[in-house]
Amino acid sequence: MREINIGLLGCGTVGTGVAKILIENRELIRSRVGTPLVLKRVADIDLNKERGISFDEGVFTSDAQKVVDDPEIDIIIEMIGGNGISKDLILRAIKNGKQVVTANKALIAGQGNALFKAAADKGVDLAYEASVGGCIPIIKTLRESLVGNHIKSMTGILNGTCNYILSKITDDGSTFEEALSEAQARGYAEADPTLDVEGFDTAHKLAIIMSLAYGMEINLKDIYIEGISKISPMDIEFAGQFGYRIKLLVISKNKGDRVEARVHPTMIPFDNLLSNVNGTLNAITISGDAVGDILLYGHGAGMLPTASAVISDTVDIARNILTGTHGRIPLLSYQMENIKKIPVMPVDEISTHYYFRFSAADRPGVLSKVSGILGNHDISIKSVHQKGRKSNGSVPIVMLTHIAKEANVQKALTKIVCLDVMCDRPVLIRIEDEDGQDLI
Ligand code: NDP
Ligand code: HSE
Repeated sequence: MREINIGLLGCGTVGTGVAKILIENRELIRSRVGTPLVLKRVADIDLNKERGISFDEGVFTSDAQKVVDDPEIDIIIEMIGGNGISKDLILRAIKNGKQVVTANKALIAGQGNALFKAAADKGVDLAYEASVGGCIPIIKTLRESLVGNHIKSMTGILNGTCNYILSKITDDGSTFEEALSEAQARGYAEADPTLDVEGFDTAHKLAIIMSLAYGMEINLKDIYIEGISKISPMDIEFAGQFGYRIKLLVISKNKGDRVEARVHPTMIPFDNLLSNVNGTLNAITISGDAVGDILLYGHGAGMLPTASAVISDTVDIARNILTGTHGRIPLLSYQMENIKKIPVMPVDEISTHYYFRFSAADRPGVLSKVSGILGNHDISIKSVHQKGRKSNGSVPIVMLTHIAKEANVQKALTKIVCLDVMCDRPVLIRIEDEDGQDLI
């Protein structure tokens, strides 16, 4: 039986992990596939960087295009990342009739519709398990295990860097900057960490799994996105006092003709499973009409966990090559002709619980002014807490609300910010609680 030849583009954090597994676990993989997977070519810019792996003579090159054009290569694994050269290389690989594996969620979320069409037209597979949730088989679960279900909702933590930062601030008292630097040093963060901390990377992942779950075209632009860069240690501490942890969540609900899709810091109760998912661990609850609720959990970032998912895709494709099949599992779970444009609900239309922190002058009448405006906007206050006196004379006033409409909340905050007693912009953090009935 013939060998399957692999060309790896990009030998950074994940690419190195992929090479390590292919080399160190070669026999294990051969015994599972039935033929050797041979790492024939590896392309990266810096030929001299120490990567902890020794490649055979002639394997390493700085010319990625040469790898994509090599007629002996069966599978291209793209581990460069970003929206630039990686897109051209993937399209060229597809044009050359090669099977492709990528972990590039920014590219799939932004340009996946066109890439999947190109792959389907050419009759090749384009696999992307590692693009969502690192090692966790979320894509396999949605595309294969849950095909008999209407997916009702998905709620989860899908960015290892943000979860690491929030955990380090909450549990170890680290600063945001310290925690981010550590996440970068450990290889969890994107090349541009703004993608992580401002919520974009999480939204890329949500766009991908919504497409798989609901049979919709990938739609990144309508997802509501808020990152964690403005979350202060003070809010993390107050959240703890009320029995919550702050997590950067994806929340998506199938509303039939529309879907809800948002990424934002969220307070969740201590006893919720997601509340206890810390560090680089990711987790997602998926709710289906037949299966009920399931929880998937594992390392969402890092060299070997992510490479594990890349190898899973590579082996799937190698098995397809050996059996002379491709496209057995539709790239986006649904047959291409059944993928629809499904609108995303504007965030204004959601209803949830809220945490507000106002920095207000410590004067009589402040509370009645604020609560008056909230009341006029149909926002019912669950509890009010005045948390000590600050040195500049303003005090933090914290309010938790019952379920309220986002549009009303935004209108009320616009009025509250104009009150002469307000010393700073209010802080708003959404809360998902038991009576929201969405968390398991
Ligand atoms: P890295 O930046 O560590 O690795 C990318 C590598 O590609 C670098 O060595 C880079 O070299 C090299 N490169 C850049 N341009 C070229 C080129 N034209 N030809 C050949 N090589 C090139 O990124 P990661 O390994 O962290 O991420 C790779 C992909 O995996 C991204 O899409 C990322 O989003 C995704 N991913 C990452 C995870 C993680 O935990 N890190 C987890 C899940 C997915 P140089 O450094 O010199 O620019
Ligand atoms: N930067 C990403 C994260 C890598 O921290 O989750 C995994 O997708």
